[in-house]
Amino acid sequence: MDKFIIKGGTRLEGSIKISGSKNCSLALMASVLLAPGKYKIINTPDLRDVSTMSLLLENMGAKVDFSQNLLTIDTTGVNSYEAPYEHVKKMRASFYVLGPLLARFGRAKVSLPGGCAWGPRPVDLHIKAMQKLGAIISIEKGYVIAKTKKLKGNLIHFDISSVGATGNALMAATLAKGTTVITNAAIEPEITALAEMLVKMGAKIDGIGTTTLTIEGVDELYSCDFENIPDRIESATFLIAAAMTKGKIELNNTNYEHMTAVLTKLEESGCKISYDKKNIYLEMENSPIPTDIITSVYPGIPTDIQAQWTAYMLLAKGTSKITDTIYYDRFKHIPELMRLGADIDLVENTAIVNGGKQLSGAVVMSSDLRGSASLILAGLVAKGTTEVLRIYHIDRGYEKIENKLNSIGANIKRVKTDII
Ligand code: EPZ
Repeated sequence: MDKFIIKGGTRLEGSIKISGSKNCSLALMASVLLAPGKYKIINTPDLRDVSTMSLLLENMGAKVDFSQNLLTIDTTGVNSYEAPYEHVKKMRASFYVLGPLLARFGRAKVSLPGGCAWGPRPVDLHIKAMQKLGAIISIEKGYVIAKTKKLKGNLIHFDISSVGATGNALMAATLAKGTTVITNAAIEPEITALAEMLVKMGAKIDGIGTTTLTIEGVDELYSCDFENIPDRIESATFLIAAAMTKGKIELNNTNYEHMTAVLTKLEESGCKISYDKKNIYLEMENSPIPTDIITSVYPGIPTDIQAQWTAYMLLAKGTSKITDTIYYDRFKHIPELMRLGADIDLVENTAIVNGGKQLSGAVVMSSDLRGSASLILAGLVAKGTTEVLRIYHIDRGYEKIENKLNSIGANIKRVKTDII
């Protein structure tokens, strides 16, 4: 197990190259199951979740190679339609293979993902979508067993906007017989990029980027090369880190269009922001103005920055409200932030931050990916030393985070520890 030892109080100034999107790369990696052949996915981040997904694909017979952020996958030899528990339990996104396996093989045996640190993560919408396309589904010993002679196009309406369920339904529909219309589809950039890759593979999709996707099933798809989009959550995390230290940061290889809600909120909190095609610039001279956020589906404030924003508002003199409407219990980081001296009341799915108190370093425990990011951010500004344990959570979604932050003035050491 590794931990971070963070010496607080340094100002961040400099530029950071943003990595490819974790959440997009996982969807793109699942789509390669739809057609045999060789794929190149450019700008793939070097993350634990990508390794987990690579292992899952190799387990199914694919050949996977990864070097310098270029992922090459050969699915010619894929001969299994099973996603075993030991892979899916590590990463919910493994469930993305359900749709492609059903579409390609007419069979799928995928472990239910189970919950995560902050509570149940249901997959009922994924299952309903597959049933609408004609799959016969049973749940046996913790596995989703799905069968179909041939998927058939249909109307699929999602009562709740779901990134994963939209991705699964979209991938399955590309090889279904006839037309599928998906309404209330997620429009996160990761889904738009997935649809663009599927079109490159020969899929017929209309309405990309909107909440209504119309897919004309085709008989077969073909492998392709594709460039992953930048990671908008990593980008937001580093912008907040710089703002917390009254610093100045330039993000390279990012995309401001994917983060207009976050950039607007950062400006409201007192940051100076500018941007051009591939870069975002932020400068912050004062403590932040208390600024409330309410998370929502894209293009609103993403739930994946809720914990980081909470850390940020610890520095704002006054009260800020952070409400998560996507995950009502994604607040495991709050008791840990309180160990650093944070004054936060949790009322249902709203964290009420009474900011402006000096934070002091302590030993804190990561419980999930974005929660651990908020602990690191708080450690950057806490007086003295903060130790963040269980940073395998952070390695799931941030590529070499300590190197990137240290390159612009942070003081973070990664050390081995036998404390789990
Ligand atoms: C994706 O998860 C992301 N993960 C999550 O990022 C992100 O928090 C989430 O979307 C919301 O934006 C990946 O893309 C790999 P959902 P996903 O289905 O697809 C409910 C991170 O930190 N729901 O859009 O699993 C669900 O409980 C991760 O990078 C059902 O009820 O999220 C939630 O309340 C964490 N039934 C809401 O929908 C279902 O079948 C949105 O979830 C599916 C979802």
